[in-house]
Amino acid sequence: MLNNKTIVLGITGSIAAYKAAEIASRLTQAGSKVNVIMTKEAIQFISPVTLRAVTGSPVVTEMFDLASEFSIEHISLAQAADIVVIAPATANIIAKLAAGIADDMLCCTVLATKAPVLIAPAMETNMYNNPATQDNLTRLEARGFEIIGPASGWLASGKEGVGRLADINDIIGSICQVLGRDGDLAGKHLVVTAGGTQEPIDPVRYISNRSSGKMGYALAEAARDRGAKVTLVTAHTSLSEPAGVDIMQAGTAQEMYQAVQGVAPHADALVMAAAVADYRPIKAAKDKIKKDKAELTLKLELTPDILGSVKGDFIKVGFAAESINLVENAREKLKQKGLDLIIANDITAGDSGFDTDTNRVTIIDREGKIESLPLMPKREVADKVLDRVAALLSKRSKR
Ligand code: C5P
Repeated sequence: MLNNKTIVLGITGSIAAYKAAEIASRLTQAGSKVNVIMTKEAIQFISPVTLRAVTGSPVVTEMFDLASEFSIEHISLAQAADIVVIAPATANIIAKLAAGIADDMLCCTVLATKAPVLIAPAMETNMYNNPATQDNLTRLEARGFEIIGPASGWLASGKEGVGRLADINDIIGSICQVLGRDGDLAGKHLVVTAGGTQEPIDPVRYISNRSSGKMGYALAEAARDRGAKVTLVTAHTSLSEPAGVDIMQAGTAQEMYQAVQGVAPHADALVMAAAVADYRPIKAAKDKIKKDKAELTLKLELTPDILGSVKGDFIKVGFAAESINLVENAREKLKQKGLDLIIANDITAGDSGFDTDTNRVTIIDREGKIESLPLMPKREVADKVLDRVAALLSKRSKR
């Protein structure tokens, strides 16, 4: 998503300016060309040398810099940008942008660009809550500016409150979302499930599986980056929640069943990447089970088959983790559960399937067509799956 993109990163005079170096570095590492513009206040907080070093590109700090490689800078930067990001954005820059003031390089670039503009406010709580700042943000939003954060937490004033720069992962996620908003899934609603459900045995123990949630989270992020509205129904994982997607927590198979039944029938597609426990204890013990017997027998019952039972006119995609007869078993599941696609993965290889960053999958459709993909990062597998979902959706809209 970020590869080969040109991003103008505007940095203004907030204590959080030091975090802009991390943002610039992450964007650069992801393959973007990052052109940094710093206000003169920002330079008080972080040196342009740092930004120059992490981006490998000149940093603009003045309106008329005769040594710069850019011709008329605000015009050339504005034209080249795929997105302008202002992080952190102070109350002052927000006020200037709302008023259309053009007295520094950053304001001029924003006025001159046709690219989307994403603003990440960071300031003291009262300044943020002040009606003047709120009015300015509302005006910017009404003009199509995207706003991320601020978050709540510890502030430089020593108090806790709203006003912290949004989490860097969330800012990067929002950049991806904005860049991809006209993608091939724009206007579509996808429900993705992820993670392994945990079925309680007693208040402290549960039955679960080795699912990391990585495949489902990659699918949710990839769908978001192609313009979809995404609902991620997630069981427990150790991953951080992707920005720009609606999160529904579902710890057990039953909770996931209820969440999916509620949301999927209104969606365009359901992709069930979650490893739903097949069995659960019939009754979880109220108190912690004591180890006072040599043997313990747990009585298990089947969990509801979520994919097999959810009804509606949406594309249904399932996963089949198999250790034997991959294709035959997957085909059988596709039929049984009435799916449009099934993604079969061979879990016998150590580099594929559960708790890995890569996956080797075979995509099988209703017509029985088989597409075997080589080992690839889960994000790439996600895009391959979504290529097929997008094709099915566009076929549908032509019906
Ligand atoms: O039958 P099996 O568990 O192998 O099927 C895998 C597919 O079915 C996955 O997409 C999984 O998310 C889904 N599933 C489900 N409800 C269950 C068990 C699995 O929706 N109780």
